[in-house]
Amino acid sequence: MSELLVRPATDDDVDDILDIEARGGREPWSADEVLGQLDHACGACMVAELHGRVVGHVLGFVVAGEGEIVTIAVDPRKQGRGLGRALVAALQDRWPCERIILEVRVDNAPARALYARTGFVEVGRRKHYYADGSDGLVLAWERPAPRRRPSRRAPTS
Ligand SMILES: CC(C)(COP(=O)(O)OP(=O)(O)OC[C@H]1O[C@@H](n2cnc3c(N)ncnc32)[C@H](O)[C@@H]1OP(=O)(O)O)[C@@H](O)C(=O)NCCC(=O)NCCS
Repeated sequence: MSELLVRPATDDDVDDILDIEARGGREPWSADEVLGQLDHACGACMVAELHGRVVGHVLGFVVAGEGEIVTIAVDPRKQGRGLGRALVAALQDRWPCERIILEVRVDNAPARALYARTGFVEVGRRKHYYADGSDGLVLAWERPAPRRRPSRRAPTS
């Protein structure tokens, strides 16, 4: 998708983020929550722009070498086209951390599919985490170790 741009979110994106939250988020964030997150994690939150329009966002932060995704959402009219994957890939590429964690409702099939596709694995379960009694799953992604170049030195005997 060459027309896709994933870039750091700014305060100017708040209205677009809120619009997407209201359209598709299961527990939509408020303006104060979004602004607070952008202030708290300057540069770590990203938006996806398609043809110049914000169509998705991921909010999170990095602390002490570990990243955490707090929320992610894609405009329902644009879901299923790889935008969620592009947002998560941008964090994995750009966040200065070796590990990213998040928490997801056990019954959120699209989100679980996205995280499985981007290399997250289950590392914990928060029983009855949600108000309706649903469990939350804790997922983690570890940055793969860099591949070692084979030594060019001839073996000595
Ligand atoms: C979760 C969400 C961000 C995914 O965004 P998206 O742009 O539709 O995801 P993608 O198109 O990049 O899909 C990523 C993978 O998940 C799979 N997937 C996406 N939606 C799916 C669905 N409804 N059912 C099953 N699998 C699905 C895709 O097949 C894809 O896998 P593939 O690359 O092997 O085909 C989007 O569904 C959303 O905004 N949901 C509402 C907010 C939410 O629940 N956020 C998660 C909070 S933890």
